[in-house]
Amino acid sequence: MIPLPPRWMIFTGILAACALAIPPVVIARVRATPDENRAVHIFFDMDFQPKFKSQAENPLFADGRAQRYAVAGTVAQGETMLDSHLYEGAVNGKWAETLPEGMSMTPEFLARGQQRYNIYCSVCHGYAGWGDGTVNKRAMELMSNSEGPVQGTSWVQAKSLHDPLVREHQLGMLYNIATNGIRNMAGYGAQIDLEDRWAIAAYVQALQLSQDASLQDVPPELRANLQTNSTQGEVK
Ligand code: HEC
Repeated sequence: MIPLPPRWMIFTGILAACALAIPPVVIARVRATPDENRAVHIFFDMDFQPKFKSQAENPLFADGRAQRYAVAGTVAQGETMLDSHLYEGAVNGKWAETLPEGMSMTPEFLARGQQRYNIYCSVCHGYAGWGDGTVNKRAMELMSNSEGPVQGTSWVQAKSLHDPLVREHQLGMLYNIATNGIRNMAGYGAQIDLEDRWAIAAYVQALQLSQDASLQDVPPELRANLQTNSTQGEVK
């Protein structure tokens, strides 16, 4: 067996090893914290960047502003947005009643609209559009607390999409509401893709029809079918 060194040597050895670990840790820590005022700059990284920040002064220009106006007549890439049907939902100052060019009302389009509606709109408006989504229910609960609304709660009831006035909205207006919001409702233009917003608008109209259909809306060859079913229901 190899004889062990004296205890004090082992002890000092462990202490020395621990002490040696300190400098690399300190260096790593300092390196990871950006600081322009550090005395010794070994790696510059991007600590010093000659630039003018917005709202700062720039003596190069006569008006002394660093922030410049866009050159007159220029348009940022992807921001032409001249097609008012596509972007605003309006044609010649009136709400569009059809989908913009390039989109068509297919079962797939409506299915996409349904999926997006269920994700983004149903939380407030409810899956069937009656204004009874989960968020809305919870907010109403907080509002109807026996000692008055729970502190800091104020809420406007999410509108029923089957409200007679809402039912009259044209496709383009529904698209515009999904994009820009309306009164107390915020817009979803930043979260939902353009084409998906049109799909949602189309689906909202499908939802409205689904809750307000008459027998005449059912194709004649399927009507008999419906009646049989309901009679069966009654027999049960
Ligand atoms: C956070 C809750 C919330 C979400 C999510 C929401 N809405 Fe609303 N919505 C409201 C409220 C609240 C109103 C009523 C606003 C008012 O009357 O001030 C409203 C009103 C509406 C109206 C009726 C406008 C009118 O003419 O009175 C439509 C249509 C509508 N929303 C569509 C949508 C669509 C489409 C989506 C999904 C893209 C959506 N909403 C998502 C809360 C919401």
